[in-house]
Amino acid sequence: MSYAIIGFGKIGQALARAFARSGIEVSVATTRDPESFASAAAAIGPGIVAKKLAEAVKADIVFLAVRFESHQDVANALSNWQGKTIVDVTNAYGVPPEELGGQPSSRVVAQAFTGGRLVKGFNHLGAAVLDQDPAVHGGRRVVFLASDDDGAAAEIGTLAENLGFSPIKLGGLSEGGLLVQARGNSWGQLIFKDLVKFD
Ligand SMILES: NC(=O)c1ccc[n+]([C@@H]2O[C@H](COP(=O)([O-])OP(=O)(O)OC[C@H]3O[C@@H](n4cnc5c(N)ncnc54)[C@H](OP(=O)(O)O)[C@@H]3O)[C@@H](O)[C@H]2O)c1
Repeated sequence: MSYAIIGFGKIGQALARAFARSGIEVSVATTRDPESFASAAAAIGPGIVAKKLAEAVKADIVFLAVRFESHQDVANALSNWQGKTIVDVTNAYGVPPEELGGQPSSRVVAQAFTGGRLVKGFNHLGAAVLDQDPAVHGGRRVVFLASDDDGAAAEIGTLAENLGFSPIKLGGLSEGGLLVQARGNSWGQLIFKDLVKFD
């Protein structure tokens, strides 16, 4: 299984740190030449590899860690995303609902990534919290996952566990998934709730 994080800003770097902590290799890409951020990637860990966008999107599992407004540009990097799972980490806070045709933002993202399986997740915490070791007080920091594809949600749930988090599945994008999506100028009820699960 291969992994990529598209976007190497605050959230992309927090995710990269989670991969580094767990010793899992991941590619990172932006619009820039990878040489311009290769040393910043390597400083996070030896398995964090800067690549060109066109190369990074060849991964099996692709984290979308760009601004919501940039999702279509990333989707355009491949004509078909069949066989891939996209983890939508974007928050469409402030995007007028009418621009989304009244749909949850993750559905709009899912439609852009033609053929791919979409999981909304890892988006409910601020980057400074997501950046930290998810092992907290003997428990594990919770990440919420929502998807219309149960197989994809299970796949990302396993990855979340391997990254040290405790995943909680919320169901479909338009159901429990609404709890972790912004709509216009309001946040879903679970956004910013930093929860820890004790098994
Ligand atoms: N910051 C948070 O606390 C937080 C928390 C939860 C969720 N989120 C969500 O996570 C996403 C990223 O937020 P952020 O705070 O990390 O933003 P950021 O610091 O501005 O980083 C955005 C990254 O995306 C890259 N990028 C922009 N357009 C791109 C494209 N077309 N293709 C590839 N890379 C592109 C940028 O690199 P270049 O411009 O150099 O190419 C940059 O590395 C947003 O949707 C945000 O709502 C953020």
